[in-house]
Amino acid sequence: MQIINWQQFGLKKNPYDTLPLVEGGDLPIEKAFVGREKEREFLNSLFESENRLCLTICGDVGVGKTSLANFHKFIWKYNKQKLLFSFRREIEACEDLLDKKSFLIEIIGSVLREIKLLQPDLLKDELLLKLNRIVDISQTIAMSGGVSILGSGLDFGRDKTSIQPIQLSTAILEEYFISLVDFIKRNEIKGRKYSGLIVHINNFDVVLSNDKTNKKVINFFNEIRDILQLRDVYFLFLGPRNFFKDIISTQQRVKSIFYQIPLKIEPLSKKEIAMAFEERMKLLQSSDVSGYIKPIENEVIFRLYDLYQGDIRSIMSAVGAILSQCSDRLTKSLSVDESMLLLGEERWEKIKMAVKLTEEQETILRYLIEKDKISQKEIVSIFGKTQSNVSSYYFKPLREAGIIEEKEKIGKVPYWGLATDYIPLKWFIESQKKLKKDIDDKSSQLTFGI
Ligand SMILES: Nc1ncnc2c1ncn2[C@@H]1O[C@H](COP(=O)(O)OP(=O)(O)O)[C@@H](O)[C@H]1O
Ligand SMILES: [Mg+2]
Repeated sequence: MQIINWQQFGLKKNPYDTLPLVEGGDLPIEKAFVGREKEREFLNSLFESENRLCLTICGDVGVGKTSLANFHKFIWKYNKQKLLFSFRREIEACEDLLDKKSFLIEIIGSVLREIKLLQPDLLKDELLLKLNRIVDISQTIAMSGGVSILGSGLDFGRDKTSIQPIQLSTAILEEYFISLVDFIKRNEIKGRKYSGLIVHINNFDVVLSNDKTNKKVINFFNEIRDILQLRDVYFLFLGPRNFFKDIISTQQRVKSIFYQIPLKIEPLSKKEIAMAFEERMKLLQSSDVSGYIKPIENEVIFRLYDLYQGDIRSIMSAVGAILSQCSDRLTKSLSVDESMLLLGEERWEKIKMAVKLTEEQETILRYLIEKDKISQKEIVSIFGKTQSNVSSYYFKPLREAGIIEEKEKIGKVPYWGLATDYIPLKWFIESQKKLKKDIDDKSSQLTFGI
């Protein structure tokens, strides 16, 4: 494992960084963002025709939901006739957010922070000053775990989830929020006039991972119904595939205020992902070089795309793993075979770190790697072991380290194979054979002087 030196490729930074694209990030979002034409059209026509909105954006982790929402916000903040204000950072949907007061305070705080970044002198306004104090106090209380720290006789909530002063009623906070939206519409911010606000709440998949918080989420949406219907406020809620179907639309009262069609996001195509990487490299090219060296051939991306079914984050971390394996200075892009060899090597090293394998265990693992799937019985008969030995001594450590998993059952017999992350081990063995053949061919050419 090596730390990757990106300068050797003529790049300032890692182009395979897995963070979402965001306004003000290392990469200019308007240039680094690719594809999504249909989704953008859908969003644009909605935002043009509606004067309020409550929309879910649904899809698997890593498909590009946050980047899409951020890109959309960026365009509407700077490049439209009807401009809508927004804060660059999204609000994370965590358990603490799931009540009306915390929700309002989070939004108000995010808007103030954005105004501070763009035009700090606006914060002298009386309303904003007041709001700033409220947000400030809540933040201090949140950090001190709800304990009264001001000693001013104000009563603050002590339980972990309430992060705001009790004496500030929800109704008052709601009025403040409405005044804030009004402020945004009445005042120019950095020379621009805005007609409303986009509120982006990210990552509902985290709070939707268990039944208890599922209920909380539904209650939460019930509780904030009136806020969601405010004019000139456009809400984007990002969550898992089933977010709209299994959460929002289970309650008519909640469902009715949402836009009835969730925006579903599927992975970018192979071509688009390759394009996104090219674009990033162009943007990150060191200023003193006349061109960058592409670290890997596009074929490598395509191969990883198939393995991870388009999950761009897994693709990027695999590329990182490949490059961290090669110590030599590269003068040309790595080919598929070279890359897979390196990735397999990296996974092999990872296994060695995770489990201490005996020679025999290793032999059986190698056998497993070459097969797509295999039953424990097969190992019993081929290697002459007892059933209990195979299951507890040979399979258990591999299973527990996430290296192998049950792939399917035929009849009642479970069949085992490599977990997705370790499939490169197959390529490792394939590439090893192929490279060896190449070298043999080349050296025989040399010998015979062809
Ligand atoms: N349209 C796009 N163009 C370029 N890069 C993208 C695009 N969509 C996503 N990405 C990249 O893919 C990765 C995952 O995207 P992200 O928005 O964080 O997904 P999600 O929010 O669905 O988990 C990030 O590194 C992001 O920069
Ligand atoms: Mg995200």
